[in-house]
Amino acid sequence: MSAAQRPIGVFDSGIGGLSVLQALNRALPQEHFVYLADNAHAPYGEKSDLHVQQRTYAIAQHLIRQHGIKALVVACNTATAAAIHELRQQHPLLPVVGVEPALKPAAQITRTGHVGVMATRGTVQSAKFARLLGSLQDQARFEVCACNGLALAIEQTTLPSLEESASAEVSRLLRTYTSAMGRFGQGEGEIDTLVLGCTHYVFAQEALQQLVGNGVRLVSTGEPVARQTQRLLESAHLLRHGTAPQHLGSRVQLLTTGHLGGLQAAAQRWLQLGARHCRQADPI
Ligand code: DGL
Repeated sequence: MSAAQRPIGVFDSGIGGLSVLQALNRALPQEHFVYLADNAHAPYGEKSDLHVQQRTYAIAQHLIRQHGIKALVVACNTATAAAIHELRQQHPLLPVVGVEPALKPAAQITRTGHVGVMATRGTVQSAKFARLLGSLQDQARFEVCACNGLALAIEQTTLPSLEESASAEVSRLLRTYTSAMGRFGQGEGEIDTLVLGCTHYVFAQEALQQLVGNGVRLVSTGEPVARQTQRLLESAHLLRHGTAPQHLGSRVQLLTTGHLGGLQAAAQRWLQLGARHCRQADPI
């Protein structure tokens, strides 16, 4: 198989990265993907850096060895913050794309100059995030909120036995965290732009929009990450060319280290893909 025919690896601590996979699929409809949800070791945002680093390095090795990936998209802000620098050093020839909270675009579009940022504790406590925030201090005022428990609650909405209580927990946490950030709106001093700095939060977008009001812009990173992946593949001559784009179902494998039912429900809900596209990952 030529290098360009190989799949792109995409991973996250769980189902959050499916929001990035949606954008990758729209931008790159010829490409094949292997998606790995590390549910058995989630949530990353509330674990140590060392844990997230070890998982990231092991998953990258696994995707390279077992699936022959030609590029890797780290569809997780927390893993990007903790591990992407070392990961790129470990694999200098592999195009690696990370995800970081979209503070720069938010600083450009805010009119009130006041931006809210929701991310995991791991992301907001990282040195990488501190540098990003520091570089934009003169461009906007940022209210940063570490949203403990939110990614896990979103994840649990995919488990039939927990769906109802998890949805209630998502609503409760969204209310708590948005009110902790301040007032949302277009008036002077109000937050008019909200950064979704965790890939899971995209799946709570509708509820969030209702809470903060329709005039507030929600900014996520799926589209820019997909464009960056396309650029990297192009410059490495690794883009897959084909005839008519085929349905995602014939181009993707979805794997989990955890509960298969959760991934199957998420694949159905957010990718309209049946259970047969999902399977248990080999031990990593
Ligand atoms: N989806 C991940 C992120 O973008 C992390 C969620 C978690 O496992 O805490 O940060």
